[in-house]
Amino acid sequence: MPYGWEGEKVRLVPLEKARHFDNCVRWLNDPQVTAWTLVGDSPLTGIMEEEFFERVCRQNDSDIVFAIETLTEEDHIGISGLHQVSFRNGSAITGTLIGRPSLWRRGLGSDSIAIRSRYAFEVLGLRLLLTEVIDGNTGSLRALSNNGYREVGRIPQRYWKRGAYRDSVQMILDRATWRAANPT
Ligand SMILES: CC(C)(COP(=O)(O)OP(=O)(O)OC[C@H]1O[C@@H](n2cnc3c(N)ncnc32)[C@H](O)[C@@H]1OP(=O)(O)O)[C@@H](O)C(=O)NCCC(=O)NCCS
Repeated sequence: MPYGWEGEKVRLVPLEKARHFDNCVRWLNDPQVTAWTLVGDSPLTGIMEEEFFERVCRQNDSDIVFAIETLTEEDHIGISGLHQVSFRNGSAITGTLIGRPSLWRRGLGSDSIAIRSRYAFEVLGLRLLLTEVIDGNTGSLRALSNNGYREVGRIPQRYWKRGAYRDSVQMILDRATWRAANPT
């Protein structure tokens, strides 16, 4: 029986504390995984992550967070979120984390973004997805571009990250652009 939202390589499934919590705490404390993220430069304790889980695991219209699992082994490999969902504006802020560096560059991140975009536009009826990437995060910029996100601006030297001030790259994907690349 299908469970969750399936792509070609991964599926997005409900985030479950028992199944996904320990991995998330481990990943968010892994300096390699957080090298380009906005979170993770100070120690993230289980208690802090528990607050996040408590919030997002409840039915909640403003944060919709999935665990990313592989299609074949049902292995938990990451998390994918729609945050600050606004039905009034038809918008959400997206974020993706594949927690196992050994699995990077295999198309799993791109596939998870493709599934999330379809879910956001077709299921939730949103019209605009926004995200912010720290300049230098090539994997993220490419995975987003592969899925139709485009740069609409940048804030120069916005963040201190691992030894330098780095630009914040503002990326968006609108429903019309997505639909043109994904005809029904
Ligand atoms: C960013 C992230 C989600 C990308 O996931 P992924 O599974 O590696 O993505 P993909 O395999 O679909 O790669 C997309 C493209 O980027 C390239 N790529 C991935 N990581 C790369 C890296 N570190 N350097 C250069 N290119 C990279 C891939 O080769 C692929 O190239 P293509 O466009 O020619 O196909 C993943 O690296 C990650 O979770 N990183 C840690 C958390 C993070 O930075 N999240 C994003 C915050 S904005």
